[in-house]
Amino acid sequence: MIIAGIVAGGKGSRMGGGDLPKQFLELALKPVFIYTAEKFLKYADFVVIGMNSDWLEYADVLLKKFFHDTEKIFLVKGGSDRNETVKNIISFAHDNLKCGDSDIILTHDAVRPFVSDEIIRESICRIENCDICTAAVPATDTIVVSADGENAGDFPNRSEMFIVQTPQTFRLGDFENIYNSLSDDEKKIATDVCRLFKSKEKKVMIIKGSPQNIKLTYPYDYKTAQIIAES
Ligand code: CTP
Repeated sequence: MIIAGIVAGGKGSRMGGGDLPKQFLELALKPVFIYTAEKFLKYADFVVIGMNSDWLEYADVLLKKFFHDTEKIFLVKGGSDRNETVKNIISFAHDNLKCGDSDIILTHDAVRPFVSDEIIRESICRIENCDICTAAVPATDTIVVSADGENAGDFPNRSEMFIVQTPQTFRLGDFENIYNSLSDDEKKIATDVCRLFKSKEKKVMIIKGSPQNIKLTYPYDYKTAQIIAES
């Protein structure tokens, strides 16, 4: 079984501009999280959206408006951080969709609406040979390591630097085993699922992402997204 786990539990504070979290901003007359979820419908048996808990009812109304086949799409409560939202989605899949430990989940940021079919297909293909795979693109700027944002540390070789995107794809049971083994402090530090897997010496692979697979973080990103959606 293949699950798409769309993480939409955030508040979008860096986007600014009012109360409405960025996952509800409109792109081509659709809320961003709907636009994103649609991309996974033809590949996933179920699409589970982890939504900011203050916005569950609002999101439910939108799901019913935009999707006819709502039996395939579910809303669950998001967590206090991104990994906890992933955990809630996986618990729901286990408890309510009869998923097993070896079933596959593609976790994807709700605010990355331009994920391509090719990236989704490649994610499903590559997970056969690793524990987790993530979309990523080569860094185009030089990266510098700095603990305080002022003093420059290492300048790693740019040709070895990649920017991590989503989807990140793995088996449900692997995530639960790793997540349940973490202390609360470890959970706070590990902000990315791939990083969690790597810390447990799992095989992490990169698949080719796309410069168009942008994450809407700041108002500039939303303006760019509107241009892409209309082109
Ligand atoms: N996310 C989530 N649960 C959280 C926090 C974030 O599912 N508790 C999701 C966001 O909704 C988003 C994705 O993770 O789709 C990437 O996170 P980010 O861009 O940092 O989103 P926000 O946390 O909403 O943004 P900000 O940090 O500006 O508030």
